Amino acid sequence: MALIDQIRRRRTFAIISHPDAGKTTLTEKLLLFGGAIHVAGAVKSNKIKKGATSDFMEIERQRGISVATSVMGFEYRDVKINILDTPGHEDFAEDTYRTLTAVDSVIIVIDGAKGVETQTRKLMNVCRMRRTPVMVFINKLDRPCKDPFDLLDEVERELQIKVRPLAFPISSGETFRGVYNIYEQNLSLFTSDQRQTADASTVEIDDLSSELLDEYIGGKFAAKLRDDVELVEGVYDAFDREAYLAGEVAPVFFGSAVNNFGVRELLECFIRIAPWPRKSTTQTREVDPSEEKMTGFVFKIHANMDPNHRDRIAFMKICSGRFERNRNYLHVRSGKQLKFSSPTAFMAEKKSIIDEAFPGDIVGLHDTGTFKIGDTFTEGEKLKFTGIPSFSPELFRYIENADPMKFKQLAKGVDQLMDEGVAQLFTSSLNGRRIIGTVGALQFEVIQYRLEHEYGAKCRWEPISIYKACWIESDDQAELADFKRRKHTNMAVDKHGRDVFLADTSYSLALAQENFKNIRFHFTSEF
Ligand code: G4P
Repeated sequence: MALIDQIRRRRTFAIISHPDAGKTTLTEKLLLFGGAIHVAGAVKSNKIKKGATSDFMEIERQRGISVATSVMGFEYRDVKINILDTPGHEDFAEDTYRTLTAVDSVIIVIDGAKGVETQTRKLMNVCRMRRTPVMVFINKLDRPCKDPFDLLDEVERELQIKVRPLAFPISSGETFRGVYNIYEQNLSLFTSDQRQTADASTVEIDDLSSELLDEYIGGKFAAKLRDDVELVEGVYDAFDREAYLAGEVAPVFFGSAVNNFGVRELLECFIRIAPWPRKSTTQTREVDPSEEKMTGFVFKIHANMDPNHRDRIAFMKICSGRFERNRNYLHVRSGKQLKFSSPTAFMAEKKSIIDEAFPGDIVGLHDTGTFKIGDTFTEGEKLKFTGIPSFSPELFRYIENADPMKFKQLAKGVDQLMDEGVAQLFTSSLNGRRIIGTVGALQFEVIQYRLEHEYGAKCRWEPISIYKACWIESDDQAELADFKRRKHTNMAVDKHGRDVFLADTSYSLALAQENFKNIRFHFTSEF
């Protein structure tokens, strides 16, 4: 098959949601449609159960599962679908942010009773920043839900994106009758069927005024549906695929993942409208997926669970060309030629060695500690993909060595964990002490545990009061120098030696922004 055809038949996306909205369930149903798995329950939830923050076995279990489910590939109607898994626990949000840099689109799952929740809002901010096309699946219609129009308004308001319903529910909870598919102009009648490959009974209704509708769902619901659909057509612009691809409008579907209801409609529409791999940006130029030469970047690194084998898997997204096993590629950062004898691909639960891969695919590379997040591979060109930012951490602690004999081990451990993107390291300009910044409290426990078990090092945490870390830069060197001098006690450098301002409070940050007009304060490290 020609490269262009391979590209066009690929859809690489992530499902994101607030924990418990139904991401795992939806993923599983999609895999069942693709025949990638045959039994329900095969996709294990990788979320750390509530209250398990000090259960380290749970952390290890989660890491194990998330390697297995990091990428789930399957074929559906000749389309190669790659679902990239994202961690369920919000303390691992940074992992999710980075995974979002490797997808071409996103499906957002929302619990119809709860509406838009915090985590969804945060993740949507990342999608908006990258203009990632998003589709919304409003789940759990078999439970009493909020009014569909209220939900649509809430999505528009909270996620700051225009919506366009392509399906519309008929009631919810006990009286849930089904979904009218505006896109396909048919009606799916709700049957609570948890069998895996079950399909809802679908009836073609191309004319909503047909009396058949009354027969299927009863006069009262039929009248309401006619009004609702009329309102939808009146209020929302016609669906515009270009606007969806530009990240400006989100098509919305309704259903019940656990009942496998509305999932097929979502998938059918998804393979038709979701984008195939798009151009990627580098520091020097845009890379088109159809370019002959292979390029790709590492967006995630996963350590082995077994402490005796400290090897890792680096996940590379192919951006252009054809990736081949046993062929030399330039590891741009080190300048070395490397070849991979056992690159892996992921089909549902199975990991297998592959001979080739195409744009949109994710390849697992064996790594003995040489790779970092953001590393680029090419056939010789010195490219560096951009758009893989570090986000401003929200929690901070000093890290201290608790075992003087193990200084080297600690340094190596911290270094490698930072390369994996577990947290970020800053060095205080005031006293040279090292500060670890994370997005979740659990990360501190993970770091301490892993340092001990994988590197034989011990660390101790000490409190530090910081509100936010932001990267600063300015064209006005004199003002920058003045700022750094005055804020000496709050200055640090990140791993790459870039200036970071550690604001104590939101007030001090606002004041600094007010007083130093020529300084730019960045909340992600890529600018
Ligand atoms: P997550 O990955 O987004 O965190 O959510 P997950 O799929 O694990 O779903 C969270 C809970 O919601 C699960 O119940 C799941 O069965 C349930 N659920 C998912 N889709 C639907 C739906 O359409 N309707 C209803 N009523 N429930 C749904 P649980 O009790 O937490 O777990 P489990 O014991 O059922 O696995």
